[in-house]
Amino acid sequence: MVETAKGSRHPRRIAVLISGRGSNLQAILDAIARRELDAAIAIVVSNRADAPGLTRAREAGLEAMCLFPEDSIDRDAYDRAIVEVLRARGVDLVCLAGYMRVVGPALLEAFPNAILNIHPSLLPAFPGLHAQRQALEYGVRVSGATVHLVNGELDAGPIVLQAAVPVLAGDTVERLSERILIEEHRIYPEAVRMVLDGGWTMRGRRFVTPPPAGASGSPLPADS
Ligand code: GRF
Repeated sequence: MVETAKGSRHPRRIAVLISGRGSNLQAILDAIARRELDAAIAIVVSNRADAPGLTRAREAGLEAMCLFPEDSIDRDAYDRAIVEVLRARGVDLVCLAGYMRVVGPALLEAFPNAILNIHPSLLPAFPGLHAQRQALEYGVRVSGATVHLVNGELDAGPIVLQAAVPVLAGDTVERLSERILIEEHRIYPEAVRMVLDGGWTMRGRRFVTPPPAGASGSPLPADS
């Protein structure tokens, strides 16, 4: 484990929380394999024993576990159990990827500004379940995907990255979902990278990244 000048571990350790298919988990894994993302997946947790994403994780050699599939404990106890699992593995960032439970105060307080979620619409439009269906039924011409920091409200945390996807004539929920998913897989690893890179600040609810070198808006020195 390498210590950087800032004292953080490298590679940074991610937990991915899932409930189903796990294609966004796969996108993060692929970005790590392509070295576009300097991070390691320390643990995959599912609240459903039959989540195909658990198999996907194990096949990739990751530690993967199902916590309390029967929903046998209350939300706070559940979140405290997750915090224990994540802390024991030195997790820096939590990525919700199709995780179908609301995150409660215990998890939020343990990972302040360090929980991300991906949602298949351009938030704040169409939060909650069936976002693609909501978009289609509303009649928007453009929908998309959003990666946001998680706060105490459903799908309402500060936005890190978004991608627009046009709604096409004759679209079905399935077709629109497929095209949105392509963008999800592109922007989720990118958003994870942005958050792990650091240097960002919150202004109100705006997630503000530092301008790239030489693009600060101030004129370059005459001899550069
Ligand atoms: C994605 O559409 C994501 O935006 C939503 O749930 C779905 C999860 O898909 N939150 P997957 O399990 O990552 O394939």
